[in-house]
Amino acid sequence: MSAPAAARPLTLGDLAAKKDAGEPIVMVTAYDHPSARIAEDAGVDMVLVGDSAAMTVLGHSSTVPVTIDEMLMLTRAVRRGLSAPLLVGDLPFGSYEASDELAVATAQRFVKEAGCDLVKIERGGTTVDRARAIAAAGIPVVGHVGLTPQSATSLGGYRAQGRTADAALALIDDALALQDAGCAVLVIEAVPAEVTALLVQRLRIPVIGIGAGADTDGQVLVWHDLLGITDGPTAKFVKRYADLRGAALAAVGDYAREVRSGAYPAPEHTYAMPAEELTRLEDLLAAR
Ligand code: KIV
Repeated sequence: MSAPAAARPLTLGDLAAKKDAGEPIVMVTAYDHPSARIAEDAGVDMVLVGDSAAMTVLGHSSTVPVTIDEMLMLTRAVRRGLSAPLLVGDLPFGSYEASDELAVATAQRFVKEAGCDLVKIERGGTTVDRARAIAAAGIPVVGHVGLTPQSATSLGGYRAQGRTADAALALIDDALALQDAGCAVLVIEAVPAEVTALLVQRLRIPVIGIGAGADTDGQVLVWHDLLGITDGPTAKFVKRYADLRGAALAAVGDYAREVRSGAYPAPEHTYAMPAEELTRLEDLLAAR
């Protein structure tokens, strides 16, 4: 059974209402127009154009190299495919950290040039001030704590965070500070479920988890992971709901075999010329 499509553009008030009602918020990433159309028709609540695009669609080995212009191009394509879900743009590494002015200017580009409803920034610490500045400029902000891929090197790699009491306390403090700074939503990534439960009890804003257990107000997964488009190992928390890589590989393999055997194109894939025009063409060529 497919989920009913949302009837009208969702608002932050709808997210708050879902949290209050205990109705899980569904978020996926997307990076292009066809994916956005599918997310829309599947009835998801929020679509994130994540800087994971650096890895999933641009072929980088981390999220760090993706540029503002690349993110804006992908985000605009997603915007054109969405009407009901809230669109979240991910501010890439280096586009917001240095100052409040830089953070606000970048966030404004994502709203003005790509039509984002919210923007997402990573980490606590100095990011708390950037979140406050962006929120004060009237742009809803999504905070992101736990495993924050833009700073994966200083976190010791792509690994679960908050696994000691001290680390978990620091993570909870970052989350509370982001909420106090005006974040509208929080993403929490790769954190023990017990820590998530303690965190969610202490927050008023909706918390969306990825690898953070079941006690959040919603879940997000990366498009390529959930559809099985990526090859190679995935994180422990990924559930593959399809094998699109397998299906695509079989289809392209069939196409290649049919081109090589001459089975494709068949007459039904071929245009024909009216017989009298062909005769005339042959006469014209013969007369040359
Ligand atoms: O970039 C991304 O896709 C993300 C999600 C994993 C939350 O930040």
